[in-house]
Amino acid sequence: MKFEESEALFEESRNYFPGGVNSPVRAFGSVGGAPVFVKRASGSHIFDEDGNEYIDYVNSWGPSILGHGYGPVIDAVREACLDGLSFGAPTKKELVLGGLIRECIPSMEMMRMVSSGTEAVMSAIRAARGFTGRDKIVKFKGCYHGHSDGLLVKAGSGALTGSAPDSAGVPASYTEHTLLATYNGEESVKTLFEQFPQSIAAVVVEPVAANMGLVPPSQGFLEFLREITTRYGALLIFDEVITGFRMGIGGAQKYYGVIPDMTTLGKIAGGGMPMGVYGGRREIMETVSPVGKVYQAGTLSGNPIATAAGIATIKTLMERPEIYKGLEEKAGRLISALKEALPDTKVNQAGSLFSVFFSKTPVVDFETALTSDTKKYAAYFHYLLDHGIYTAPSQFEILFLSAAHTDEDIEKTCNIIKEAASHL
Ligand SMILES: Cc1ncc(COP(=O)(O)O)c(C=O)c1O
Repeated sequence: MKFEESEALFEESRNYFPGGVNSPVRAFGSVGGAPVFVKRASGSHIFDEDGNEYIDYVNSWGPSILGHGYGPVIDAVREACLDGLSFGAPTKKELVLGGLIRECIPSMEMMRMVSSGTEAVMSAIRAARGFTGRDKIVKFKGCYHGHSDGLLVKAGSGALTGSAPDSAGVPASYTEHTLLATYNGEESVKTLFEQFPQSIAAVVVEPVAANMGLVPPSQGFLEFLREITTRYGALLIFDEVITGFRMGIGGAQKYYGVIPDMTTLGKIAGGGMPMGVYGGRREIMETVSPVGKVYQAGTLSGNPIATAAGIATIKTLMERPEIYKGLEEKAGRLISALKEALPDTKVNQAGSLFSVFFSKTPVVDFETALTSDTKKYAAYFHYLLDHGIYTAPSQFEILFLSAAHTDEDIEKTCNIIKEAASHL
């Protein structure tokens, strides 16, 4: 495959954007080579500026669960555009989307719309602190909750790929209230609560960790978090930016039957447009301005185009529950191919979410995720890319399927995974 046009565009982009990109993982830093410059996408396929076509398993990092350019979503966006792009005033669409979200995730009794997952988690934590009158939060090593200052401590995703989990430019005092625990490590959480019984406002967790590769919660871990937070009067925040509307219509909380006090959403909630949502029990959310004293605002919050895309996406998912079964079935076929072709790797799965670790150690947390051979992953990634399969350019991201992936897509991918194995 030729990547000449992408390479030239990347070269030029470096003059404009740090590393040539507007979000770090896109730069292919951990796998090498020039990133593919996407020209357009349709269904399960993306097309680059060199005219190459790929089966897409990045899926815009999750939002495009129905596939790229899904008719009803595009129609809704087109129609909304004709009525105006942004008003800075309330609209009926926000109410419709809010109603759908609450129907799917009843624990979000009241919510606030923002424009990204980062904003959603940052604001949820502010509300949790305002509600409890406490300062400290517990986060887990390897979990990523966006790039707000207080959460860039042992974060996953791009912060992990760049091997600089702690960002420069964040004053130490900004993270002094961020306590770190081990994902799936109950003892580490217990110790923090024993040390700070009255000071922890919230535990924030990805109910399925998906930013250090895929690490599912161990049996009873989420239940444990529910119990210990309740016992100490802290809030439990599920960051469902990835799992929301992906682990099923009710997200990870319905899938595992553990109900948090607060939830954050992004990605699918905006159907491919910029969107974030945070919400939870009414009494907590009533601490948010203008009702309460926790200030939070946004010029483009609840944007009419993003809400239109979110409504069309969530309505489709509600009307077609079989989509989830299909995603899991497709994931199952890919996972079988991976396990057969690459017996020395570990494949982790939760619902239709999965990732392969080039490691012989079972991956259950951040430390074990780091045992992966990232060089081998890079070779595997490039073989797939060269053969028309676009997966995450990092060992520590996961694969995203969509309803648009066809049997032929999956079969072709399985075959190429098998070929890749003999070239590693
Ligand atoms: C679990 C989780 N939370 C928060 C975020 C941040 O969302 P955004 O990139 O929309 O700011 C992400 C991004 O991937 C995420 O995976």
